[in-house]
Amino acid sequence: MLGVSALKIGILGTGRMGSALAEYLAEKNIELVVYNRTRAKAEELCSRIECSVVDAPANMEDVDAIIIFVFDDNSLLEVVSGEHGLLQLKNKDILIMNSTTVTPTTSLHVYNILKNAGLHYVESPVYGSKDHARTGKLITILAGDDVLDTAEEIASLYSQEVFRVGLIPTASAIKLALNNIGLVMPALIGESLAILEAYGVKHEKFLRISSKLWFGEVVKKYYLRAMNERQESKFSVAGAAKDYSLIVRALHDAGYTAEVSSGLANYYKAAAEEMPEEDYPKAMRLLIKE
Ligand SMILES: NC(=O)c1ccc[n+]([C@@H]2O[C@H](COP(=O)([O-])OP(=O)(O)OC[C@H]3O[C@@H](n4cnc5c(N)ncnc54)[C@H](OP(=O)(O)O)[C@@H]3O)[C@@H](O)[C@H]2O)c1
Repeated sequence: MLGVSALKIGILGTGRMGSALAEYLAEKNIELVVYNRTRAKAEELCSRIECSVVDAPANMEDVDAIIIFVFDDNSLLEVVSGEHGLLQLKNKDILIMNSTTVTPTTSLHVYNILKNAGLHYVESPVYGSKDHARTGKLITILAGDDVLDTAEEIASLYSQEVFRVGLIPTASAIKLALNNIGLVMPALIGESLAILEAYGVKHEKFLRISSKLWFGEVVKKYYLRAMNERQESKFSVAGAAKDYSLIVRALHDAGYTAEVSSGLANYYKAAAEEMPEEDYPKAMRLLIKE
């Protein structure tokens, strides 16, 4: 058992998720070290909460675990094998937990190179938004062949539930399979709104009838989130575009077609060119003219 009060955690990537998690862990009096490519963002975080900033991933030498929340496959490779990346760590006891959503192929590659360097790597992708990270209510999916008890203890600090699913890259595969469903709704609602617009039907009529159907609550939730001008960006349009491109790649890597996710990847990619940092349901507004 790890003593939580004596625990020191590194957070690598202080974007939406990394900074929300840091805020939550700081409230639990866990000692934090953070790294972010754009150092100013990490410094801003540590001006608000108790944490210290390091200049490079490899400078997180004296922590028990490092939780990685960077953007995609390339950014994971950058913080692992780039200059002063995690591969340079001398302390081989550190547990590296990757919570970045990446392809199974890249996760497996990162696992192999870290293992060859004598380091411990587990997959720990999460389901839930920055609000769930901020309140310790994430759902964490763990995979690995080593130190899983420790990983589970750490993930339990900020998760409502932790699932152990097997060897790497099982957790990455499950995370992409979940996101494939979880991110689709705004795209479908956007096309439904286009049908309504094309035939002069008010949204209200559509919402009233859909509220009686099994998907009514979901439609209402995303519709309101997309139409709210003051909605904060919980997960970016660029992030949704990235996830669908990972889903397509994950299927192609394994010799499968990706008919549905290819369409969704194109849709979110075009939206990301217009509004990369907006909350991703807002992308539905690009499908209508008014
Ligand atoms: N937001 C959600 O609801 C949510 C939920 C579950 C999982 N996730 C996953 O969690 C991860 C983080 O998501 P987020 O919403 O926090 O993203 P975000 O706000 O866009 O933050 C991305 C982070 O990645 C860093 N980064 C980007 N490219 C990099 C590179 N080449 N090298 C090093 N660092 C790089 C950014 O650094 P800079 O500040 O320098 O740009 C930033 O710290 C993603 O994989 C996402 O799919 C997100």
